[in-house]
Amino acid sequence: MPSMAQGQGGVKPKSNVDSNDSYARRQKIMQQRKSLPIASVEKRLADEVRKNDIMIIVGETGSGKTTQLPQFLFHAGFCRDGKLIGITQPRRVAAITVAKRVADECGVQLGQRVGYSVRFDDRTSAATRIKYMTDGLLLREALLDPYLSRYSVIIVDEAHERTVHTDVLLGLLKRVQNARSKSGHDHSSADNKKTSNGLPSDKETGARFNGIFKQSQGGKLPPLKLIIMSASLDARVFSEYFGGARAVHIQGRQFPVDILYTLYPETDYLDAALITMFQIHLEEGPGDILVFLTGQEEIESVERLVQERLQQLPEPSRKLITVPIFSSLPSEQQMRVFAPAAVGFRKVILATNIAETSVTIPGIKYVIDPGFVKARSYDPSKGMESLIVVPTSKAQALQRSGRAGREGPGKCFRLYPESEFGKLEDSTKPEIKRCNLSNVILQLKALGVDDIIGFDFLEKPSRASIIKSLEQLFLLGALTDDCKLSDPVGHQMARLPLDPIYSKALIVASQFNCLEEMLITVAMLSVESIFYAPREKLEEARTAMKCFASPEGDHLTLINVYRTSAEFLEKRKMEISTEKSEKLLRKWCKENFINSRSLRQARDIHSQIRGHVEQMGLCVSSCGDDMLQFRRCLAASFFLNAALRQPEGTYRALASGQVVQIHPSSVLFRAKPECIIFNELVQTNNKYIRNITRIDYLWLTELAPQFYTMQN
Ligand code: CDP
Ligand code: MG
Repeated sequence: MPSMAQGQGGVKPKSNVDSNDSYARRQKIMQQRKSLPIASVEKRLADEVRKNDIMIIVGETGSGKTTQLPQFLFHAGFCRDGKLIGITQPRRVAAITVAKRVADECGVQLGQRVGYSVRFDDRTSAATRIKYMTDGLLLREALLDPYLSRYSVIIVDEAHERTVHTDVLLGLLKRVQNARSKSGHDHSSADNKKTSNGLPSDKETGARFNGIFKQSQGGKLPPLKLIIMSASLDARVFSEYFGGARAVHIQGRQFPVDILYTLYPETDYLDAALITMFQIHLEEGPGDILVFLTGQEEIESVERLVQERLQQLPEPSRKLITVPIFSSLPSEQQMRVFAPAAVGFRKVILATNIAETSVTIPGIKYVIDPGFVKARSYDPSKGMESLIVVPTSKAQALQRSGRAGREGPGKCFRLYPESEFGKLEDSTKPEIKRCNLSNVILQLKALGVDDIIGFDFLEKPSRASIIKSLEQLFLLGALTDDCKLSDPVGHQMARLPLDPIYSKALIVASQFNCLEEMLITVAMLSVESIFYAPREKLEEARTAMKCFASPEGDHLTLINVYRTSAEFLEKRKMEISTEKSEKLLRKWCKENFINSRSLRQARDIHSQIRGHVEQMGLCVSSCGDDMLQFRRCLAASFFLNAALRQPEGTYRALASGQVVQIHPSSVLFRAKPECIIFNELVQTNNKYIRNITRIDYLWLTELAPQFYTMQN
């Protein structure tokens, strides 16, 4: 196997094809790689992995874990016999950008030896050996390949993030590793054995494991090497979970970071962030700025505000560029954060908490931390999940400030008083304790794990929340009376890479002859925000939105936007290039206050899920002008999210009893129909519902009797 050193050797390549530029670049990359803290322990790490089937690696952010370790293992021969090294990431942007970087470091084309696979975007091939992916995607892969037989090594990266998928994946990998070591040694009697760690050996899982094992491997699978990587220092919880697994610490380097606090609490942290940003820009020495914001909407609105304020500065002070990074950013725009700003310019990176540990961006000297993060929150007694903006934990605040001291001394501006820091939680609660579990339960069931309460979770979710999620799956028709996956609905739902409620909506829509409309709806609901309304152009934006607004509600409004934009492209398809028509579409979006990034994402998602449902044999047809039919379908699909108007104009959500209000961005904000269904609950000072359609309340008992006759 060619080693990296040979491939990028210190001798200038003879070929004329390689330009001086690219030669210099490769030299620079090689230098950077050599200077990473992890570089000095390459051999030791490979030896450790050879010796230990499970390992935990802890190392400071930026030490080179994610980009280097897979390459070390590749060169140490862990991909012999065509096996893969899989690396999971909690976030798609991390998986994509890191894969691009590593392909670049290896001097190969993305999708060849190094690739990535995330939901709705797969860049791998038969040649791929180092595969970056999201933790959720590996869980899905296990549905088709329960032994994960293509992999020799799986690295669960960013385990400290404790996403619900990481937690469930760890439990699953424990089972797979056990099953594989057992089968590898003695597969003939595997059917009758108990798993070696004493886990209840689920008969059905055993049968499934063995079935696939015999087909694909015909006898022997090498043991699965498992590596858990984390940025935080607390490896104990993982080590204990894996029976005292070996933990290795990688020494990082960190320069001092000055932490500055505000004197008083800020009422508007976005404004405070803007002021701080310009203060740094005008008064501090060179160095890029990293600002932590809570989501796409906030990032895009700050982007616009920065542009406006720059225009008010004298020409020489305008040398500031903004680059956004958030999880749903189109992949070709993601790499922009890594590119250095032009000479004399300062770069401001507007990031979600993705830049905390998942993605390391060079050149940062200043960090602005408003102290907030958007998090999932779930109340099992009400069965409603929502996204809320909450204060970060101390651990997150420390990670954020650490980003300023990677390459030299830096400064971190925390936009809250010092006394507030002491009040923060030490660390963030694992997501599994604060989210709706229907999705993972559906997947575990599909993997043959029937006893969810008995599953060996790293940290058990509450019984109440498991039961509530089981109940929801039952109401959606995914489970039978004895809690097994129903056939075909449950199995179909598990196959779709969507929230169970959306998967069910697609299945229902095929029966209502409006799958075409529902595909658009689900795609549009899967992106953050289609419309945007900048504060200073609120009226203009509202007027623009009226062109698409449907009196029936937001779902039909979204369909109107989607169809109008599709027609726009269709009309120009014959005359001009795709590139040109995309450019025109972006202009059209801008004029109509539509977020072109989100719209593009929705189009991608649409074509992907359309592929899935067609493969499943569902009939994609349209209800034409019969919008009553479509609204009935929405009621039949989202009956768990129905709400009735109360005398004072607020709404009562029927399933949870919560009092909610229509979000001002809804087309039904003023109309306030009597009965509605909604898709999203947002909590700020009030509980707001978004994405709403007017329905007839009698439809609920007619179309969802399993729920509504029970209630009434
Ligand atoms: O995983 P860990 O936080 O330990 O570090 P990493 O992601 O492997 O990053 C190692 C180095 O690669 C850092 O210096 C990053 O700045 C650099 N890198 C980069 O320049 N471009 C990327 N797309 C990813 C990483
Ligand atoms: Mg990393």
